[in-house]
Amino acid sequence: MTETLLVTGASGQLGRGVINHLLDTFKVPADRIIATTRTPANLADLAARGVTIREANFDDTASLTKAFAGASRVLIISTNELAIHGKRREQQLAAVTAAKQAGVGHLLYTSLPDPEPGSPILFAPDHYDTEQAIKATSIPYTFFRDSWYDENLFMSLPHTLASGHWYTSAGDGRISYCARDDMAAAIAGGLASASDQSVTYTLTGPKAYSVAEVAALVTEVTGKPIEVVQLSDEALTEGMKAAGLPESVARLLVSFDAATRAGGLGMVTDAVEKLSGRKSLSLKQFLEANKSKLAA
Ligand SMILES: NC(=O)c1ccc[n+]([C@@H]2O[C@H](COP(=O)([O-])OP(=O)(O)OC[C@H]3O[C@@H](n4cnc5c(N)ncnc54)[C@H](OP(=O)(O)O)[C@@H]3O)[C@@H](O)[C@H]2O)c1
Repeated sequence: MTETLLVTGASGQLGRGVINHLLDTFKVPADRIIATTRTPANLADLAARGVTIREANFDDTASLTKAFAGASRVLIISTNELAIHGKRREQQLAAVTAAKQAGVGHLLYTSLPDPEPGSPILFAPDHYDTEQAIKATSIPYTFFRDSWYDENLFMSLPHTLASGHWYTSAGDGRISYCARDDMAAAIAGGLASASDQSVTYTLTGPKAYSVAEVAALVTEVTGKPIEVVQLSDEALTEGMKAAGLPESVARLLVSFDAATRAGGLGMVTDAVEKLSGRKSLSLKQFLEANKSKLAA
């Protein structure tokens, strides 16, 4: 391997995971890896292992072009900028422009399952427009359309377990949850491969679960009962607002349930195991390994 691999957002949880798998699982020499971040001090440990650290901010195109110089394969990790509508789209389009200007040979991007127009997920256009912008550059690409992390459950389960109720509008729709580290290993595998083909992978866990099935698994692991309460999208939105969530956040979260109900997050593929070269964690194994984080 002689190509130089670059990972943006390297101090984030996924970015760190990808770099650790490049080094430890795929044995990519550290001097072939560039990690970019807004805060280089956060990556002192990777610098100590020989990884090149460069500063890049998606709000500053010049910093991106400079940071991407000399990189053969660039992984753009979608940013977590959701507070200002449209900001993430703008940031990611700037990163695509910078990659083109820097002469990058292959672009990889972390997207969303089925982000096409018509997706109920309110931020789907950020991902779809970024995919389209990448295609328009004519640079060969790899899209990793990531299903929901298992870790997303940490956000809601403590409250659900404390109240004993799981309010949802997802109906019988399923989500193919996947442990973030399994996704990181798969993405590292795709980044480390020398493939120059344009390809789209949907990265999922080994099985998809309805809310009732997740609740039953959580009860099995914790011993605590959960009653699943199905509501309309409108009633769920109002309930979240009454519980103190800002309306924009409530609408975003309910859009996830609407997408789940419509089948947009239920696809199951074997891409994670193929790219990572290892068996993925089941949701039950993940819940058992993280039992202490589920309690309120
Ligand atoms: N599939 C899912 O279930 C799921 C769940 C949550 C999030 N996501 C998406 O997946 C991404 C990675 O997940 P994660 O768990 O690693 O999230 P995270 O730990 O919150 O990391 C967020 C990343 O966004 C980067 N970022 C934010 N603003 C930026 C800017 N102006 N310029 C450059 N980078 C910026 C950060 O980079 P630095 O701080 O290093 O600059 C960081 O790497 C998230 O950002 C989000 O788009 C997916």
